[in-house]
Amino acid sequence: MAIIITGASGGFGRAAAAQLLDKIPASELIFTTRKPAGLAEFAARGASVRFADFDAPSSLPAAFAGGTRMLLISTARVGSRVGQHQNAVTAAVAAGVKHIVYTSLLGAAREDNPAIVKLDHRATELIIEKSGASYTFLRDSQYAEAIAAAVIPPALMSGVLPDNAHDGPIAFVSREDCIASAVGVLTQSGHENKAYDITGPELLSFPKAVQMAIELSGKNIAYKPVDDEAMFAYFDSLGVPRHASDDPVTAPIPWSSDDMVTFGQSIREGFFNVVTDHVERITGRKPRSLREVMLQFKDSWPK
Ligand SMILES: NC(=O)c1ccc[n+]([C@@H]2O[C@H](COP(=O)([O-])OP(=O)(O)OC[C@H]3O[C@@H](n4cnc5c(N)ncnc54)[C@H](OP(=O)(O)O)[C@@H]3O)[C@@H](O)[C@H]2O)c1
Repeated sequence: MAIIITGASGGFGRAAAAQLLDKIPASELIFTTRKPAGLAEFAARGASVRFADFDAPSSLPAAFAGGTRMLLISTARVGSRVGQHQNAVTAAVAAGVKHIVYTSLLGAAREDNPAIVKLDHRATELIIEKSGASYTFLRDSQYAEAIAAAVIPPALMSGVLPDNAHDGPIAFVSREDCIASAVGVLTQSGHENKAYDITGPELLSFPKAVQMAIELSGKNIAYKPVDDEAMFAYFDSLGVPRHASDDPVTAPIPWSSDDMVTFGQSIREGFFNVVTDHVERITGRKPRSLREVMLQFKDSWPK
């Protein structure tokens, strides 16, 4: 048995690779990436580090050769990554991969979910379901780290957080728990053809997250509920592109407002109103709270 992790130099992939190296022999691990030089430390520990670019299908057969299980980490280009994932799944199954674990999104299978990011995820899930391999879909809630590291710091700087999610319930999940869940599924049996909602321990909301940040920082943030049009206008004012692209000239920021505004709409309309015990069932430990994640990042917040 050999386990493949794709995109192993990304934030999720690198941490998953490190955890797997602590659990199973390095000779049973294959880490693929567009930047193999960045994974020299894993190669030195005996893992097989190989070049793979989903946009270059000819690179994939050699990259996936010998693998029997694969963690397919969704790529970053929201709106146009399904073809990349299709290339990866086709090549993996042709190379002999029997089980594919995929990093999906909470609510991916709900038809009426307005979050455009779910379209890529559901399309990829369907590709995997039809591939002939067994699968596990890890449908992650919103990362708590995204709140603590990307939402709160600018809000502390400006003193205001415009937001279109309003008091929509959400159980923010630590990315560390998502990674540990992926590693658990890859190294245990019994997860074939399952979809797990991966959530944090409690339902909160953006206003509650802001209140927590106010308490921990001692600084005020005015939470400002806005509608979707005003949210687009706010991101426009920051220079965030409406659509995601890999073009560093027209879209130098790797995220887009159509993704974020429809994500907020999805939270507001209740599509993230889910708490499960899946993290604990898979990893054997309770999921981290948003407060724990905020405390981890607090020292990096603007003073
Ligand atoms: N639920 C949430 O709140 C949330 C938040 C953020 C992200 N996510 C999801 O989690 C995923 C991983 O997040 P992250 O923080 O690890 O992102 P990241 O550090 O930006 O990594 C992006 C990943 O995409 C891979 N990739 C990009 N283009 C590729 C290509 N052409 N061929 C093969 N791989 C390619 C990269 O692999 P290499 O660079 O190693 O080739 C890397 O693993 C994201 O893509 C996103 O779908 C979820």
